[in-house]
Amino acid sequence: MATRDGHPRGAAANAHPHVCNDGSIAVVHNGIIENHKDIRTFLENNGYKLKTNTDTEVIPNLIHYFYSKTGSLRDAVVDAVRQLKGSYAIVVLAEQGNRLYAARKSSPMVVASDGKGAAVASDISALPEGCNKAIYPDDDEIVEIEGSDIRIYDLNILPVDKQAQDINISNEEFSKQGFPHFMLKEIHESVDAIKNSMAGRVKPERDTVKLGGLKDVAERLKTVDRLLIVACGTSYYAGMTGKYFIEEHCRIPVEVRLASEFRYHDEPLDGRTAILAISQSGETADTLEAVKLAKQKKLLTLGLVNVVGSSIARETDAGVYTHAGPEIGVASTKAFVCQVVCLYMIGMYISGVRSREIIEALLRIPDLMSEALAEHKAVKRMAEQISTYKNTVFIGRKYMYPLSLEAALKLKEVSYIHAEGYSAGELKHGPLALIDNNFATIALAPYNDVYDKTASNLQEVHARKGPVFAFGSDRLSDVSDISKCLIKVPGIQDYVQPFATSIYVQLLAYYAGTKLGYDVDKPRNLAKSVTVE
Ligand code: M6R
Repeated sequence: MATRDGHPRGAAANAHPHVCNDGSIAVVHNGIIENHKDIRTFLENNGYKLKTNTDTEVIPNLIHYFYSKTGSLRDAVVDAVRQLKGSYAIVVLAEQGNRLYAARKSSPMVVASDGKGAAVASDISALPEGCNKAIYPDDDEIVEIEGSDIRIYDLNILPVDKQAQDINISNEEFSKQGFPHFMLKEIHESVDAIKNSMAGRVKPERDTVKLGGLKDVAERLKTVDRLLIVACGTSYYAGMTGKYFIEEHCRIPVEVRLASEFRYHDEPLDGRTAILAISQSGETADTLEAVKLAKQKKLLTLGLVNVVGSSIARETDAGVYTHAGPEIGVASTKAFVCQVVCLYMIGMYISGVRSREIIEALLRIPDLMSEALAEHKAVKRMAEQISTYKNTVFIGRKYMYPLSLEAALKLKEVSYIHAEGYSAGELKHGPLALIDNNFATIALAPYNDVYDKTASNLQEVHARKGPVFAFGSDRLSDVSDISKCLIKVPGIQDYVQPFATSIYVQLLAYYAGTKLGYDVDKPRNLAKSVTVE
C-alpha cells in the first residue's frame, strides 16, 4: 500500500538494500543521514525520482549521480561520502564490477576475511566462522573489497596501512551452550566474567590494584581531582554504583551524567576533571559523542569498555577493558557487574588506596554471585508472582538505589511490565500515591545501617495494601511478616552487595519475561548497540 504522497510504505519498502533509480547500485545502511532532505532536493533537481521516504535511498542515488560522471565506483563512493552528514555505516554494491565498498562515520564497522571471501559487519559477533582477524575502519576511510582482499583508502584515495587484529573469541562464546536464552547464559557467566575482570589486576600481596591500561596516563591522573562519568542505560547505573564506592573509599568526587544530556549541556569543566566513558559495546552514539566533546575541551578521556577495539576504546586517551566476554542478549547483565568491579578498581588505582579489607571483599565476589545463582528456583517463583502485575516499583537506599533503577530497567526491558526505580526515601515524596493492591513494591533491602529505614518504608506500602516483595534480610520479622515473598540476601559489606543482588534482579526479569512468553534476548523496539542518537 502507498502513503498519501504516493510513497510505498511498510517494512518491505524500508527494507535494505536500497537501490538507485535504475537499480544498478545497491546500499545497506546503518545510521541516520541528517542532511537527506537537502540531498533529496539536489537529486530531484537532477532528474532522480525517489521511491521511499527513507534517508537511505538518497545514498545509492547520490553514488549513481557521481558514478555517471566519473565511471569509477570508488571515486563515486568517496564523492558521495563527502556529502553525507550524520552517522552511518554503509556497504555499496554495483551491478557492474566485482568490488564491494564500505564506509563509516560514528557508526561501528568491522571488516574481516576468511581467505575465501570477506565480510563487513557492525560487530565481530556477526562475522562468519573462519574470520579470525578483523580490521576496524575509521571515520573518513573507504574500504574496498575484492574477493578476500581488503584495501583501505582515505578520502583522497591514498592507501591507508591498517593492521588486522586477532579476534580472540571462540564460536562457543557466540552459542547458547544449552541455555534457552543468551540472557540466562550470560547471567550465569557473570561469575567467570568478574574473575576475568579482576585477573592480574587485584593484587592481594600489595593490598591494591594494578591497571595496565591506565599506566600511560598515570602522571596526568595525578593532576585529576574529579571524575565525570558519562554513559547510557545500564552502564549509567553502573556509573552511579561506582560513584558510591569511589567517593566513600577513594575520596575522589564523582559526577555521573547521562551521555545524551552531557552532550548538550555546557557545564563548567576544568583540566582537573577526567571524563570516564562507560560502555559495553563501545559504540553507543551518545557516549562516543560525549567523549569527542570532552576531547575538544582538552580533558583527559578514559574508557571503561567491553568490546575490544570498539570506537570508544579507540577514541579515549586510555582505558580499562571490562573483559566480560561477548554479550549477545540485548539486556546487559554480566557486563554490568564487571563494569562495577572495574570502577572500584579504577577508583583504587587513581587514589592509590591500599586496603586488605577491600581486596579480600573483592575476591569474595565470585562466590557470593554463585550463591545468588543457586537461589534461581526461589527467584523464579517470585518472578511468577511479579508477572501477574502491570505496575511495579523497586526501592533501595545507598548502593541499592542505583540497583533499583537498574532492576526496573531490566524488568521493563524484557517483560514489558511497567517498572520504576526509586530511592526508598523518595517514596513518600510522590510515588506512594500510586500504591494500591495492584501495584507491587520490590525492595532491595540487605541488612545494613539503613535497613530499618527501608523496612519502615515497606510498612507504609503495606498499610496502603501494596503487595510487598523483598530481597532482604529477615532480621526484622516485620519485613518477613508483610512480604508476599522474601528472598534472603547475605549481610555483607555495602559495596559488595550490588554483585549478589544484581544476579537476583536479573534472574527476576528473566523469569518474568519468559513466563509471559517473550523473547528476552531480543526485546521489541531495542537494539544491542544504540549507534544512532
Ligand atoms: O553498550 P552500552 O553499554 O553503551 O549501552 C548502553 C545502553 O544502551 C544499554 O546499557 C541498554 O540500556 C541495555 N539494553 C540495558 O540492558
